[in-house]
Amino acid sequence: MTMAMSIAQFTFFSRATSSSFLNRTNARFNRFTFSTPFSTADATCTRKKNGRLPVLSALELGGVKIARDDVVRDDPTNNVPDSIFSKLGMQLHKRNQHPIGILKNAIYEYFDANYSNKFDKFDDLCPLVSVKQNFDDVLVPADHISRSYNDTYYVDSQTVLRCHTSAHQAELLRDGHTHFLVTGDVYRRDSIDSTHYPVFHQMEGFRVFSPEEWEASGLDGTSYAAGDLKKCLEGLARHLFGAVEMRWIDAYFPFTNPSFELEIYFQEKWMEVLGCGVTEQEILRNNGQLDSVAWAFGLGLERLAMVLFDIPDIRLFWSNDERFTSQVQLIDNFTNKKGMTSHCYRIAYRSMECSLTDEEINELQRKVREQVETKLNVELR
Ligand code: DAH
Repeated sequence: MTMAMSIAQFTFFSRATSSSFLNRTNARFNRFTFSTPFSTADATCTRKKNGRLPVLSALELGGVKIARDDVVRDDPTNNVPDSIFSKLGMQLHKRNQHPIGILKNAIYEYFDANYSNKFDKFDDLCPLVSVKQNFDDVLVPADHISRSYNDTYYVDSQTVLRCHTSAHQAELLRDGHTHFLVTGDVYRRDSIDSTHYPVFHQMEGFRVFSPEEWEASGLDGTSYAAGDLKKCLEGLARHLFGAVEMRWIDAYFPFTNPSFELEIYFQEKWMEVLGCGVTEQEILRNNGQLDSVAWAFGLGLERLAMVLFDIPDIRLFWSNDERFTSQVQLIDNFTNKKGMTSHCYRIAYRSMECSLTDEEINELQRKVREQVETKLNVELR
């Protein structure tokens, strides 16, 4: 397989503007660079001769030291392969130039701006959790399919790789947190294709209300929390996607009642954005919140990033090639005496499929310049 890339640079002047996250990121993490078809061969990793990726033997996650042999064991209660162990230390959500990290930061930005930094943020909690944390604490029934060895990675009969970030709700409540966001890698046994991968990333949100907060409203606690939840998430969807049409669908989750899914109408389709609801009282009571109500939501970052950045294949998130993960670099930044700021960006144009011709790159560059000019209201140089 041939692979080619080319580098282009351009500079523009900017004044302060306000625009949705989508408008801004289209320029920063350009969609054109991702719209090339994906090839099943992974051209970007350094592979060993036997075709397997080298596996690190130990890592530290959220302060916990983890050795390969703790996670991958020849034991009937263990079903974690090396290919999954090798993903444990990757932490794509902590890379600020990676689409998953960019999206995480855009969601943080929304919560910081609207709740004056009240939400505590966690993105380094260890993905190895107990069966109790992953399932029992969030009231997943004993016979629920998600507990099966077929669906979940078991390290031993009592320890799993978390299959959702909801696994951390109970411990954070017990630690006294009332407003929090938890971002992390989650693991589900699944076959791989362009939209499924056994590791992906979620963000969990949680907000607790005390009785004074809803009593003044004349509503009961559950209705108050449900109303607040919907307002908050509609605002988040607008922050990410701009002025989109939205709808609420009734749903079921073991940990919330009532439960909902938010869908947005985007690129001519209804798309599910997240699951959420009013937290079951039992979870609050079991974790030291006796008279409170709370809401929670969980969203999958890959699915949203694929739409926002036009990434055609979920496997591309795992590319190690810096030319893919940091395609746009700010190489010069100055403000002149008149208060105009000049930014010079270097963009790596690259196809996973073939060598790009000068004409193709010029056309991509022309489109980037056109979008940057119209969407960011800047003067090109
Ligand atoms: N844990 C759910 C999942 O992985 C997502 C979710 C739904 C999280 C509703 C929540 C929630 O906190 O309230 O599919």
